[in-house]
Amino acid sequence: MKYLQILGQKKLAGEVSISGAKNAALPLLASTILAKNSVEICNLPNVVDINTLLKLLEMLGSSFSKIDNNCITINTLNINETKATYDIVKTMRASILVLGPLLARFGHCEVSLPGGCAIGQRPVDLHLKALEQMGAIIEIKAGYILATAPKGLKGSTIVFDKITVTGTENIIMAAALAHGTTKIINAAKEPEVVQLCEVLRDAGLNIKGIGTNEIEIEGTAQELLEFKDFGIIADRIEAGTYLCAGAIANSKITLNNVIPMHLDAVLSKLEEMGFGIEKTDTTITLLPAKSIKPVKLTTTEYPGFPTDMQAQFMALATQANGVSIIDENLFENRYMHVNELLRMGADITLKGHTATITGTPNALTGTDVMATDLRASSALVLAALVAKGTTNIHRIYHLDRGYENLEEKLTALGADVKRFNE
Ligand code: UD1
Repeated sequence: MKYLQILGQKKLAGEVSISGAKNAALPLLASTILAKNSVEICNLPNVVDINTLLKLLEMLGSSFSKIDNNCITINTLNINETKATYDIVKTMRASILVLGPLLARFGHCEVSLPGGCAIGQRPVDLHLKALEQMGAIIEIKAGYILATAPKGLKGSTIVFDKITVTGTENIIMAAALAHGTTKIINAAKEPEVVQLCEVLRDAGLNIKGIGTNEIEIEGTAQELLEFKDFGIIADRIEAGTYLCAGAIANSKITLNNVIPMHLDAVLSKLEEMGFGIEKTDTTITLLPAKSIKPVKLTTTEYPGFPTDMQAQFMALATQANGVSIIDENLFENRYMHVNELLRMGADITLKGHTATITGTPNALTGTDVMATDLRASSALVLAALVAKGTTNIHRIYHLDRGYENLEEKLTALGADVKRFNE
Protein backbone atom coordinates (compact mmCIF):
# COMPACT_ATOMS: atom_id res chain seq x y z
CA MET A 1 0.00 0.00 0.00
CA LYS A 2 1.02 3.57 -0.61
CA TYR A 3 0.78 6.69 1.51
CA LEU A 4 1.11 10.42 0.81
CA GLN A 5 3.44 12.61 2.82
CA ILE A 6 2.64 16.31 2.78
CA LEU A 7 4.70 19.07 4.35
CA GLY A 8 2.20 21.81 5.09
CA GLN A 9 1.99 25.61 5.06
CA LYS A 10 3.45 26.18 1.59
CA LYS A 11 1.93 28.98 -0.47
CA LEU A 12 0.45 27.78 -3.76
CA ALA A 13 0.61 29.60 -7.09
CA GLY A 14 0.13 28.91 -10.77
CA GLU A 15 -2.20 26.93 -13.00
CA VAL A 16 -3.70 23.46 -12.96
CA SER A 17 -5.46 21.66 -15.78
CA ILE A 18 -8.68 19.85 -14.82
CA SER A 19 -9.24 16.29 -16.06
CA GLY A 20 -12.36 14.72 -17.54
CA ALA A 21 -15.19 13.95 -15.12
CA LYS A 22 -15.08 10.44 -13.67
CA ASN A 23 -18.81 10.54 -12.93
CA ALA A 24 -19.60 11.51 -16.53
CA ALA A 25 -17.20 8.97 -18.00
CA LEU A 26 -18.66 6.02 -16.06
CA PRO A 27 -22.23 6.17 -17.46
CA LEU A 28 -20.89 7.17 -20.88
CA LEU A 29 -18.63 4.11 -21.03
CA ALA A 30 -21.57 1.94 -19.93
CA SER A 31 -23.74 3.56 -22.61
CA THR A 32 -21.44 2.24 -25.35
CA ILE A 33 -23.15 -1.14 -24.71
CA LEU A 34 -25.95 0.45 -26.77
CA ALA A 35 -23.65 1.24 -29.75
CA LYS A 36 -23.55 -0.54 -33.09
CA ASN A 37 -20.16 0.96 -33.99
CA SER A 38 -16.77 1.53 -32.35
CA VAL A 39 -16.57 4.82 -30.51
CA GLU A 40 -13.61 7.07 -29.82
CA ILE A 41 -13.80 8.67 -26.37
CA CYS A 42 -11.34 11.40 -25.33
CA ASN A 43 -10.59 13.36 -22.17
CA LEU A 44 -11.13 10.19 -20.10
CA PRO A 45 -9.54 10.65 -16.68
CA ASN A 46 -6.80 8.08 -16.13
CA VAL A 47 -8.04 6.95 -12.70
CA VAL A 48 -8.71 3.58 -11.10
CA ASP A 49 -12.54 3.71 -11.34
CA ILE A 50 -12.40 4.19 -15.11
CA ASN A 51 -9.97 1.31 -15.49
CA THR A 52 -12.28 -0.84 -13.34
CA LEU A 53 -15.26 -0.19 -15.62
CA LEU A 54 -13.13 -0.82 -18.72
CA LYS A 55 -12.07 -4.14 -17.18
CA LEU A 56 -15.72 -5.04 -16.54
CA LEU A 57 -16.67 -4.17 -20.13
CA GLU A 58 -13.75 -6.29 -21.32
CA MET A 59 -14.91 -9.22 -19.17
CA LEU A 60 -18.31 -8.95 -20.88
CA GLY A 61 -16.61 -9.33 -24.29
CA SER A 62 -15.96 -5.75 -25.45
CA SER A 63 -12.57 -4.64 -26.67
CA PHE A 64 -10.84 -1.31 -26.44
CA SER A 65 -7.53 0.17 -27.51
CA LYS A 66 -5.76 3.15 -26.04
CA ILE A 67 -5.03 5.98 -28.46
CA ASP A 68 -3.13 7.83 -25.72
CA ASN A 69 -3.32 8.26 -21.95
CA ASN A 70 -6.79 9.82 -22.11
CA CYS A 71 -8.36 8.58 -25.36
CA ILE A 72 -9.66 5.13 -26.27
CA THR A 73 -11.56 3.41 -29.03
CA ILE A 74 -14.13 1.01 -27.64
CA ASN A 75 -16.14 -1.67 -29.41
CA THR A 76 -18.91 -3.48 -27.54
CA LEU A 77 -20.46 -5.38 -30.47
CA ASN A 78 -18.85 -8.65 -29.39
CA ILE A 79 -20.33 -8.67 -25.88
CA ASN A 80 -21.20 -12.32 -25.23
CA GLU A 81 -21.43 -12.33 -21.43
CA THR A 82 -24.07 -10.51 -19.37
CA LYS A 83 -22.89 -11.16 -15.81
CA ALA A 84 -21.13 -8.47 -13.76
CA THR A 85 -19.49 -10.48 -11.02
CA TYR A 86 -19.07 -9.65 -7.34
CA ASP A 87 -15.27 -9.35 -7.46
CA ILE A 88 -15.52 -6.35 -9.78
CA VAL A 89 -18.76 -4.74 -8.51
CA LYS A 90 -17.49 -4.81 -4.91
CA THR A 91 -14.56 -2.58 -5.89
CA MET A 92 -16.83 0.00 -7.53
CA ARG A 93 -20.54 0.57 -6.88
CA ALA A 94 -20.96 2.45 -10.15
CA SER A 95 -20.66 -0.95 -11.93
CA ILE A 96 -24.45 -0.99 -11.42
CA LEU A 97 -24.50 1.30 -14.50
CA VAL A 98 -24.21 -1.73 -16.80
CA LEU A 99 -27.58 -3.06 -15.56
CA GLY A 100 -29.84 -0.80 -17.67
CA PRO A 101 -27.97 -1.07 -20.99
CA LEU A 102 -27.27 -4.83 -20.72
CA LEU A 103 -30.91 -5.60 -19.92
CA ALA A 104 -32.16 -3.32 -22.69
CA ARG A 105 -29.86 -4.88 -25.32
CA PHE A 106 -29.91 -8.57 -24.36
CA GLY A 107 -33.21 -8.98 -22.46
CA HIS A 108 -31.38 -10.54 -19.51
CA CYS A 109 -28.40 -9.90 -17.25
CA GLU A 110 -26.97 -10.56 -13.81
CA VAL A 111 -25.30 -7.86 -11.78
CA SER A 112 -23.90 -8.39 -8.30
CA LEU A 113 -25.58 -6.27 -5.63
CA PRO A 114 -23.12 -3.49 -4.75
CA GLY A 115 -23.45 -4.03 -1.00
CA GLY A 116 -22.34 -1.62 1.72
CA CYS A 117 -20.29 1.47 1.26
CA ALA A 118 -18.28 3.68 3.57
CA ILE A 119 -20.56 6.70 3.13
CA GLY A 120 -23.85 5.00 3.91
CA GLN A 121 -26.31 2.34 2.94
CA ARG A 122 -26.74 3.41 -0.71
CA PRO A 123 -29.46 1.02 -1.90
CA VAL A 124 -30.35 0.46 -5.59
CA ASP A 125 -34.07 -0.14 -4.96
CA LEU A 126 -35.09 2.84 -7.13
CA HIS A 127 -33.15 1.49 -10.14
CA LEU A 128 -34.85 -1.91 -9.75
CA LYS A 129 -38.37 -0.56 -9.18
CA ALA A 130 -38.12 1.56 -12.33
CA LEU A 131 -36.91 -1.39 -14.41
CA GLU A 132 -39.82 -3.47 -13.07
CA GLN A 133 -42.17 -0.71 -14.18
CA MET A 134 -40.64 -1.12 -17.63
CA GLY A 135 -41.61 -4.80 -17.62
CA ALA A 136 -38.44 -6.38 -16.24
CA ILE A 137 -38.67 -9.36 -13.92
CA ILE A 138 -36.17 -8.85 -11.13
CA GLU A 139 -35.07 -11.51 -8.68
CA ILE A 140 -32.41 -11.21 -6.01
CA LYS A 141 -30.58 -14.52 -5.64
CA ALA A 142 -27.36 -15.22 -3.76
CA GLY A 143 -26.30 -11.57 -3.80
CA TYR A 144 -27.05 -11.05 -7.49
CA ILE A 145 -29.71 -9.04 -9.30
CA LEU A 146 -31.15 -11.37 -11.94
CA ALA A 147 -33.04 -9.28 -14.46
CA THR A 148 -34.99 -10.53 -17.47
CA ALA A 149 -37.19 -8.91 -20.08
CA PRO A 150 -37.51 -11.61 -22.76
CA LYS A 151 -39.52 -9.43 -25.15
CA GLY A 152 -37.50 -6.31 -24.35
CA LEU A 153 -38.33 -3.44 -22.01
CA LYS A 154 -41.51 -1.39 -22.42
CA GLY A 155 -41.67 2.38 -22.27
CA SER A 156 -43.33 3.58 -19.08
CA THR A 157 -43.77 6.62 -16.84
CA ILE A 158 -41.27 6.47 -13.98
CA VAL A 159 -41.62 8.81 -11.02
CA PHE A 160 -38.52 8.59 -8.86
CA ASP A 161 -39.34 8.85 -5.13
CA LYS A 162 -35.93 10.43 -4.61
CA ILE A 163 -33.58 12.09 -7.06
CA THR A 164 -30.91 9.53 -7.96
CA VAL A 165 -28.03 10.25 -10.31
CA THR A 166 -26.98 6.73 -11.35
CA GLY A 167 -30.63 5.63 -11.11
CA THR A 168 -31.63 8.27 -13.68
CA GLU A 169 -28.67 7.29 -15.88
CA ASN A 170 -29.53 3.58 -15.72
CA ILE A 171 -33.14 4.22 -16.72
CA ILE A 172 -32.16 6.60 -19.54
CA MET A 173 -29.96 3.84 -20.99
CA ALA A 174 -32.65 1.19 -20.46
CA ALA A 175 -35.28 3.42 -22.07
CA ALA A 176 -33.06 4.05 -25.11
CA LEU A 177 -33.68 0.56 -26.50
CA ALA A 178 -37.14 0.01 -24.99
CA HIS A 179 -40.35 -0.46 -27.00
CA GLY A 180 -42.29 2.81 -26.75
CA THR A 181 -41.78 6.05 -24.87
CA THR A 182 -40.45 6.41 -21.33
CA LYS A 183 -41.03 9.50 -19.22
CA ILE A 184 -38.73 9.99 -16.21
CA ILE A 185 -40.20 12.37 -13.64
CA ASN A 186 -38.06 13.75 -10.78
CA ALA A 187 -34.97 12.95 -12.85
CA ALA A 188 -31.47 14.05 -11.78
CA LYS A 189 -30.17 17.17 -13.61
CA GLU A 190 -26.46 16.82 -12.83
CA PRO A 191 -24.16 17.88 -15.73
CA GLU A 192 -23.04 14.23 -15.97
CA VAL A 193 -26.66 13.16 -16.66
CA VAL A 194 -26.95 15.96 -19.22
CA GLN A 195 -23.86 14.77 -21.11
CA LEU A 196 -25.20 11.20 -21.20
CA CYS A 197 -28.44 12.52 -22.74
CA GLU A 198 -26.53 14.65 -25.27
CA VAL A 199 -24.32 11.78 -26.41
CA LEU A 200 -27.38 9.52 -26.84
CA ARG A 201 -29.21 12.31 -28.71
CA ASP A 202 -26.21 12.70 -31.02
CA ALA A 203 -26.39 8.92 -31.55
CA GLY A 204 -29.88 9.40 -32.98
CA LEU A 205 -32.05 8.86 -29.89
CA ASN A 206 -35.16 10.99 -29.67
CA ILE A 207 -34.83 12.49 -26.20
CA LYS A 208 -36.58 15.56 -24.80
CA GLY A 209 -36.23 17.57 -21.57
CA ILE A 210 -32.43 17.30 -21.37
CA GLY A 211 -31.23 19.14 -18.25
CA THR A 212 -34.70 19.27 -16.69
CA ASN A 213 -36.30 16.99 -14.13
CA GLU A 214 -38.65 15.50 -16.73
CA ILE A 215 -36.97 13.50 -19.47
CA GLU A 216 -38.84 11.80 -22.29
CA ILE A 217 -37.18 9.10 -24.39
CA GLU A 218 -38.54 7.36 -27.46
CA GLY A 219 -37.08 3.84 -27.39
CA THR A 220 -35.65 2.22 -30.52
CA ALA A 221 -37.27 -1.21 -29.92
CA GLN A 222 -33.85 -2.86 -29.39
CA GLU A 223 -32.14 -1.32 -32.39
CA LEU A 224 -28.58 -0.29 -31.49
CA LEU A 225 -27.47 3.34 -31.87
CA GLU A 226 -24.83 4.84 -34.17
CA PHE A 227 -22.57 6.71 -31.73
CA LYS A 228 -20.47 9.75 -32.66
CA ASP A 229 -17.00 10.17 -31.13
CA PHE A 230 -16.99 12.45 -28.09
CA GLY A 231 -14.89 13.96 -25.27
CA ILE A 232 -15.79 13.85 -21.57
CA ILE A 233 -16.77 17.12 -19.83
CA ALA A 234 -14.46 18.60 -17.18
CA ASP A 235 -14.64 17.20 -13.66
CA ARG A 236 -16.48 19.78 -11.53
CA ILE A 237 -15.56 17.96 -8.31
CA GLU A 238 -11.85 17.78 -9.13
CA ALA A 239 -12.09 21.49 -10.04
CA GLY A 240 -13.84 22.29 -6.75
CA THR A 241 -11.18 20.35 -4.84
CA TYR A 242 -8.35 22.40 -6.42
CA LEU A 243 -10.24 25.62 -5.72
CA CYS A 244 -10.35 24.54 -2.07
CA ALA A 245 -6.60 23.80 -2.22
CA GLY A 246 -5.96 27.36 -3.38
CA ALA A 247 -8.41 28.67 -0.77
CA ILE A 248 -6.99 26.73 2.19
CA ALA A 249 -3.49 27.96 1.29
CA ASN A 250 -5.06 31.42 0.73
CA SER A 251 -3.22 31.63 -2.58
CA LYS A 252 -3.99 32.75 -6.12
CA ILE A 253 -4.41 29.80 -8.49
CA THR A 254 -6.00 29.32 -11.90
CA LEU A 255 -7.87 26.26 -13.15
CA ASN A 256 -7.79 25.55 -16.89
CA ASN A 257 -10.19 23.38 -18.93
CA VAL A 258 -13.18 23.87 -16.65
CA ILE A 259 -16.86 24.63 -17.22
CA PRO A 260 -17.38 27.45 -14.66
CA MET A 261 -21.20 27.23 -14.91
CA HIS A 262 -21.10 23.71 -13.40
CA LEU A 263 -19.44 25.16 -10.29
CA ASP A 264 -21.86 28.01 -9.53
CA ALA A 265 -22.85 26.68 -6.08
CA VAL A 266 -19.23 26.07 -5.08
CA LEU A 267 -18.02 29.44 -6.39
CA SER A 268 -20.73 31.36 -4.57
CA LYS A 269 -19.76 29.68 -1.26
CA LEU A 270 -16.10 30.57 -1.86
CA GLU A 271 -17.13 34.19 -2.51
CA GLU A 272 -19.19 34.18 0.71
CA MET A 273 -16.03 33.05 2.51
CA GLY A 274 -14.19 36.12 1.18
CA PHE A 275 -12.29 34.71 -1.82
CA GLY A 276 -12.25 36.48 -5.16
CA ILE A 277 -13.33 34.61 -8.28
CA GLU A 278 -12.51 35.53 -11.87
CA LYS A 279 -13.93 33.49 -14.74
CA THR A 280 -13.53 33.11 -18.48
CA ASP A 281 -15.39 30.53 -20.59
CA THR A 282 -12.92 27.79 -19.64
CA THR A 283 -10.90 29.08 -16.66
CA ILE A 284 -11.47 30.05 -13.05
CA THR A 285 -8.99 32.07 -10.99
CA LEU A 286 -9.27 32.06 -7.21
CA LEU A 287 -7.93 35.14 -5.42
CA PRO A 288 -6.91 35.10 -1.74
CA ALA A 289 -9.27 36.37 1.00
CA LYS A 290 -8.31 39.23 3.36
CA SER A 291 -9.78 37.15 6.14
CA ILE A 292 -11.52 33.77 5.63
CA LYS A 293 -15.14 34.01 6.76
CA PRO A 294 -17.18 31.08 8.12
CA VAL A 295 -19.84 29.51 5.91
CA LYS A 296 -23.24 27.80 6.14
CA LEU A 297 -23.99 25.14 3.59
CA THR A 298 -26.43 22.35 2.89
CA THR A 299 -25.72 19.56 0.44
CA THR A 300 -28.41 18.88 -2.10
CA GLU A 301 -28.94 17.82 -5.71
CA TYR A 302 -27.57 19.86 -8.63
CA PRO A 303 -27.69 22.82 -9.10
CA GLY A 304 -27.40 23.01 -5.29
CA PHE A 305 -24.21 22.47 -3.30
CA PRO A 306 -22.77 18.98 -4.10
CA THR A 307 -22.32 16.35 -1.40
CA ASP A 308 -19.08 15.44 -3.20
CA MET A 309 -17.64 18.83 -2.08
CA GLN A 310 -18.81 18.68 1.54
CA ALA A 311 -15.64 17.15 3.02
CA GLN A 312 -13.35 19.60 1.21
CA PHE A 313 -15.36 22.60 2.49
CA MET A 314 -15.19 21.20 6.00
CA ALA A 315 -11.38 21.17 5.76
CA LEU A 316 -11.52 24.76 4.48
CA ALA A 317 -13.91 25.81 7.28
CA THR A 318 -11.27 24.83 9.86
CA GLN A 319 -9.31 27.89 8.60
CA ALA A 320 -12.19 30.38 8.83
CA ASN A 321 -12.45 33.01 11.54
CA GLY A 322 -15.58 31.76 13.26
CA VAL A 323 -18.22 29.05 13.31
CA SER A 324 -19.34 27.26 10.12
CA ILE A 325 -22.34 24.93 9.84
CA ILE A 326 -22.57 22.09 7.32
CA ASP A 327 -25.72 20.02 6.75
CA GLU A 328 -25.25 16.74 4.88
CA ASN A 329 -28.57 15.71 3.43
CA LEU A 330 -27.78 13.02 0.88
CA PHE A 331 -25.75 10.36 2.67
CA GLU A 332 -26.16 9.40 6.33
CA ASN A 333 -22.57 8.49 7.07
CA ARG A 334 -20.59 10.97 5.08
CA TYR A 335 -18.62 12.40 7.99
CA MET A 336 -15.84 9.83 8.22
CA HIS A 337 -13.24 12.57 7.69
CA VAL A 338 -14.31 14.31 10.91
CA ASN A 339 -12.40 11.98 13.26
CA GLU A 340 -9.26 12.36 11.17
CA LEU A 341 -9.58 16.18 11.10
CA LEU A 342 -10.03 16.10 14.90
CA ARG A 343 -6.74 14.21 15.16
CA MET A 344 -5.10 17.12 13.31
CA GLY A 345 -6.50 19.55 15.90
CA ALA A 346 -9.76 20.70 14.26
CA ASP A 347 -12.70 21.75 16.43
CA ILE A 348 -15.75 19.99 14.96
CA THR A 349 -18.89 18.69 16.65
CA LEU A 350 -21.45 16.45 15.00
CA LYS A 351 -25.14 16.26 15.79
CA GLY A 352 -27.21 14.10 13.45
CA HIS A 353 -26.44 15.26 9.95
CA THR A 354 -25.15 18.68 11.06
CA ALA A 355 -21.48 19.51 11.61
CA THR A 356 -20.39 22.62 13.51
CA ILE A 357 -16.83 23.69 12.73
CA THR A 358 -15.16 26.32 14.88
CA GLY A 359 -12.39 27.62 12.68
CA THR A 360 -9.06 29.06 13.81
CA PRO A 361 -6.51 29.89 11.12
CA ASN A 362 -3.28 27.86 11.29
CA ALA A 363 -4.43 25.66 14.17
CA LEU A 364 -3.99 22.28 12.46
CA THR A 365 -0.93 20.10 13.04
CA GLY A 366 0.34 17.32 10.80
CA THR A 367 0.05 13.72 11.98
CA ASP A 368 -0.83 10.25 10.60
CA VAL A 369 -4.37 10.04 9.21
CA MET A 370 -6.37 7.47 7.32
CA ALA A 371 -8.33 8.02 4.10
CA THR A 372 -11.80 6.43 4.28
CA ASP A 373 -13.50 7.26 1.00
CA LEU A 374 -12.75 9.24 -2.12
CA ARG A 375 -13.86 12.74 -1.14
CA ALA A 376 -13.01 12.34 2.57
CA SER A 377 -9.46 11.58 1.43
CA SER A 378 -9.24 14.81 -0.50
CA ALA A 379 -10.32 16.74 2.61
CA LEU A 380 -7.33 15.25 4.43
CA VAL A 381 -5.00 16.33 1.62
CA LEU A 382 -6.40 19.88 1.90
CA ALA A 383 -6.01 19.92 5.70
CA ALA A 384 -2.43 18.65 5.30
CA LEU A 385 -1.63 21.54 2.91
CA VAL A 386 -2.27 24.04 5.70
CA ALA A 387 -1.17 22.00 8.75
CA LYS A 388 2.04 22.70 10.65
CA GLY A 389 4.65 20.03 9.94
CA THR A 390 4.19 16.73 8.14
CA THR A 391 0.99 14.75 7.55
CA ASN A 392 1.07 11.13 6.38
CA ILE A 393 -2.18 10.10 4.65
CA HIS A 394 -2.62 6.34 4.57
CA ARG A 395 -4.89 4.20 2.36
CA ILE A 396 -4.65 6.60 -0.54
CA TYR A 397 -6.05 4.01 -2.95
CA HIS A 398 -9.32 5.88 -2.31
CA LEU A 399 -7.79 9.03 -3.86
CA ASP A 400 -6.49 7.11 -6.85
CA ARG A 401 -10.07 6.10 -7.69
CA GLY A 402 -10.93 9.64 -8.71
CA TYR A 403 -8.01 12.12 -8.87
CA GLU A 404 -5.72 11.95 -11.89
CA ASN A 405 -2.05 12.87 -11.24
CA LEU A 406 -2.83 14.40 -7.86
CA GLU A 407 0.77 14.69 -6.64
CA GLU A 408 1.99 16.08 -9.96
CA LYS A 409 -0.77 18.68 -10.08
CA LEU A 410 -0.29 19.77 -6.45
CA THR A 411 3.51 19.82 -6.80
CA ALA A 412 3.24 22.03 -9.88
CA LEU A 413 1.21 24.46 -7.75
CA GLY A 414 4.02 24.54 -5.17
CA ALA A 415 2.87 21.98 -2.60
CA ASP A 416 5.34 19.57 -1.01
CA VAL A 417 3.69 16.16 -1.67
CA LYS A 418 5.40 12.77 -1.95
CA ARG A 419 4.15 9.20 -2.35
CA PHE A 420 5.82 6.35 -0.47
CA ASN A 421 5.28 2.61 0.04
CA GLU A 422 4.04 1.71 3.55
C1 UD1 B 1 -23.79 9.69 -7.57
C2 UD1 B 1 -22.32 9.99 -7.69
C3 UD1 B 1 -21.73 10.32 -6.32
C4 UD1 B 1 -22.55 11.43 -5.65
C5 UD1 B 1 -24.04 11.11 -5.65
C6 UD1 B 1 -24.89 12.26 -5.16
C7 UD1 B 1 -21.65 8.65 -9.59
C8 UD1 B 1 -20.89 7.47 -10.10
N1 UD1 B 1 -21.66 8.84 -8.27
O1 UD1 B 1 -23.93 8.52 -6.75
O2 UD1 B 1 -20.39 10.73 -6.49
O3 UD1 B 1 -22.12 11.58 -4.30
O4 UD1 B 1 -24.48 10.79 -6.99
O5 UD1 B 1 -24.66 13.39 -5.92
O6 UD1 B 1 -22.19 9.44 -10.35
N2 UD1 B 1 -30.98 6.19 -3.16
C9 UD1 B 1 -31.93 5.29 -2.75
N3 UD1 B 1 -32.26 4.26 -3.61
C10 UD1 B 1 -31.68 4.11 -4.84
C11 UD1 B 1 -30.72 5.05 -5.25
C12 UD1 B 1 -30.37 6.10 -4.39
O7 UD1 B 1 -32.47 5.39 -1.65
O8 UD1 B 1 -32.02 3.16 -5.55
C13 UD1 B 1 -30.60 7.32 -2.26
C14 UD1 B 1 -29.13 7.26 -1.82
O9 UD1 B 1 -28.96 6.40 -0.71
C15 UD1 B 1 -28.84 8.71 -1.51
C16 UD1 B 1 -29.68 9.45 -2.55
O10 UD1 B 1 -30.67 8.52 -2.99
O11 UD1 B 1 -29.31 9.04 -0.23
C17 UD1 B 1 -28.91 9.96 -3.75
O12 UD1 B 1 -28.09 8.91 -4.25
P1 UD1 B 1 -27.72 8.79 -5.80
O13 UD1 B 1 -27.97 10.07 -6.50
O14 UD1 B 1 -28.34 7.56 -6.35
O15 UD1 B 1 -26.14 8.54 -5.71
P2 UD1 B 1 -25.29 7.72 -6.73
O16 UD1 B 1 -25.94 7.78 -8.07
O17 UD1 B 1 -24.97 6.37 -6.16
